[in-house]
Amino acid sequence: MKNEESVLIVRNVYKSYQNDGLKVEVLKGVSFSVAKGEMVAIMGPSGAGKSTLLNIIGTLEYPDSGEILIGGRNPFKLSDAELAAFRNKEIGFVFQFHHLLPEFSALENVMIPSIIYSDEYSESKKRAIEILCEVGLSERLNHRPNMLSGGERQRVAVARALINDPGLVLADEPTGNLDVENGDRLMELLLKINRDIGTTFIIATHNPEVAERADRIIYLRDGMIIDEK
Ligand SMILES: Nc1ncnc2c1ncn2[C@@H]1O[C@H](COP(=O)(O)OP(=O)(O)OP(=O)(O)O)[C@@H](O)[C@H]1O
Ligand SMILES: [Mg+2]
Repeated sequence: MKNEESVLIVRNVYKSYQNDGLKVEVLKGVSFSVAKGEMVAIMGPSGAGKSTLLNIIGTLEYPDSGEILIGGRNPFKLSDAELAAFRNKEIGFVFQFHHLLPEFSALENVMIPSIIYSDEYSESKKRAIEILCEVGLSERLNHRPNMLSGGERQRVAVARALINDPGLVLADEPTGNLDVENGDRLMELLLKINRDIGTTFIIATHNPEVAERADRIIYLRDGMIIDEK
């Protein structure tokens, strides 16, 4: 289809949910593609379907119809075990709430996705330390999440998303739980990673200031793309 450089192709995706026997159409034929190294923002009002779309791209949910290709592969054709491995390797997630494991240190939280499918403990540790330094947390390696500030926790979550060097990082309202200053810092960090490493990002946000810093903004409303710029 479009070009081989597309990290992601979304083609005519539909998704509905049953709520109390009532069918709610959440995505109604969404199509777009994202080139390698792009930073794309998805904006739209509450209920527009942003999180649903990211969850489908992240292979956490299946579309009713349509397809997605990540790095040229259709993840929904994989077996469950293959899909779990694919997701772990190819996709990084950053959510509004950090979802760090409370009983583990920052370093351990970042290492977890990389040790699941590898025996290279010392390599994982080295890489996790490098990334935590990159996100400005070299002096917080052994802090548990409750010993970190909100902004720091979110930076640990970013480091965890990057540990396996994924082709695609999905961020759902990554600044939604931060004050303006920490939100700006987090966005600066994502832009720096995008610039330095060339990581491809898709960021769902309500915040026009966050969206404006992306290469491209896709506007979603009532489950359809209504504009793009
Ligand atoms: N698991 C579910 N079961 C039923 N309905 C759902 C489910 N998940 C989402 N929905 C419905 O789908 C619609 C879109 O939800 P979604 O979370 O994708 O919106 P959003 O654009 O991310 O909104 P927000 O900006 O508030 O995060 C909403 O009307 C929601 O109620
Ligand atoms: Mg949402």
